[in-house]
Amino acid sequence: MKNIAVAGTGYVGLVTGVCMAENGHNVTCVDIDEQKVQTMRAGISPIFEAGLEELMKKNIESGKLHFTTEFAAAYKEAEAVFIGVGTPEKKDGSADLKYIATVAKQVAESLEKDCLVVIKSTVPVGTNDKIEKFINDFLVNDVRVEVASNPEFLAQGSAVKDTLEADRIVIGTESKWAEEILTSVYKPFGIPIVSVNRRTAEMIKYASNDFLALKISYMNDIANLCELVGADIQDVAKGMSYDDRIGDKFLNAGIGYGGSCFPKDTSALEFLARQHGYDLRTIKATIDINTEQKLKLFEKARQQLITFNGIKVAVLGLTFKPGTDDLREAPSLANVPLLLEQGADIYAYDPVGGDNFKEFYPEGNHSQGEITYVDNPETALEEASVCFIFTEWGEIKAITPKRYKDLMRSPLVFDGRNIYGVQEMADNGVEYHSIGRPLVKNK
Ligand code: UGA
Repeated sequence: MKNIAVAGTGYVGLVTGVCMAENGHNVTCVDIDEQKVQTMRAGISPIFEAGLEELMKKNIESGKLHFTTEFAAAYKEAEAVFIGVGTPEKKDGSADLKYIATVAKQVAESLEKDCLVVIKSTVPVGTNDKIEKFINDFLVNDVRVEVASNPEFLAQGSAVKDTLEADRIVIGTESKWAEEILTSVYKPFGIPIVSVNRRTAEMIKYASNDFLALKISYMNDIANLCELVGADIQDVAKGMSYDDRIGDKFLNAGIGYGGSCFPKDTSALEFLARQHGYDLRTIKATIDINTEQKLKLFEKARQQLITFNGIKVAVLGLTFKPGTDDLREAPSLANVPLLLEQGADIYAYDPVGGDNFKEFYPEGNHSQGEITYVDNPETALEEASVCFIFTEWGEIKAITPKRYKDLMRSPLVFDGRNIYGVQEMADNGVEYHSIGRPLVKNK
């Protein structure tokens, strides 16, 4: 059992802290927001994440999980401080390290005994070297501090499972001392540990995320070609997936990837390459394809309709993927403003993302159009002339093809997630446009 402090209680920090406590460590999670800390102390999670609250409550009750704003007290007791604060994207595509720098300074000023600082946040290659120097420059007491890289591979919506049952744990260290501390922290997890140097660990994170983003953009690129030549991307993906070298994951073509990771991490790696005078063409293409992909359905719909002005448009799904209330880089955010500009009367449904979306687009008039939020997808569909599907929530997948025909004024559906079979939609009298699949005419 080790004394561990975790800085930041976002997706990465909170899930890390809770899972460390679940594996027997004594964990204190630090956040600057007093209100948020109070809520978390009561076992309430500030984020929507399957299984997280149960584990929070369980470990708070057993006395292994604590929350505080008093960072100095938490850091001075810790044998390891995990930093999981955000590294948002700056305008030029580089990662903004100001939150890490703030925490690093606080850690340096608080430490009273030897401590390993572990960077969980995704940071550009070489950043851990700089953080180590920065902390040592600001140290108040004569203690040993090293920085280790320990990228996380959790996906939103399955963050707890991804952490407790990860495929691998990557640790990047520069000394036996650091490697041993981090290995012993992770031993109770019983997961293979890949131990490499710090810069390699940092690169493993980017290379993994960007490879997944590239895989999606590749499938979207092929999907667009499928449409032109009359092939079906879902069957193409199926046919590819039997090859172990390709695998069956992340082959779903759609309306493009979003979220807090792939868009940011592709830009950051491309920026890093540029800084080093290298043209990272694969990732540049990945980004370009994704940007265009998000508007593919809007463009298709625009060609199809005389106008959006005054037309009821059902928007089903707002979050960047199901299982989360996160809207970052969601395709909905690229499309809704364009629909509003064109005068659409939008009825939006999302099982959990509506409140967050309202912060960008409050209910009412915007540009030429209007947006109304509904808590039932069928209300959005009633008398609508067009429907866009942006997220494959179970509640949306549960709508049968016949309901579109029954409820809509004209059953015209643009599906960014390939939820339905093209034939079943046609058989039910729905004009159905999806991604990378043939258009089957209604009977
Ligand atoms: C991603 C990675 O999957 C995690 O391994 C990583 O740890 C995380 O980023 C991170 O760096 O923090 P996440 O962004 O939560 O996780 O979500 P994903 O499930 O990977 O989905 C990302 C986007 O890709 C979504 O918009 C999703 O709809 C899209 N996607 C995914 C597709 O369009 N097609 C697919 O086949 C799979």
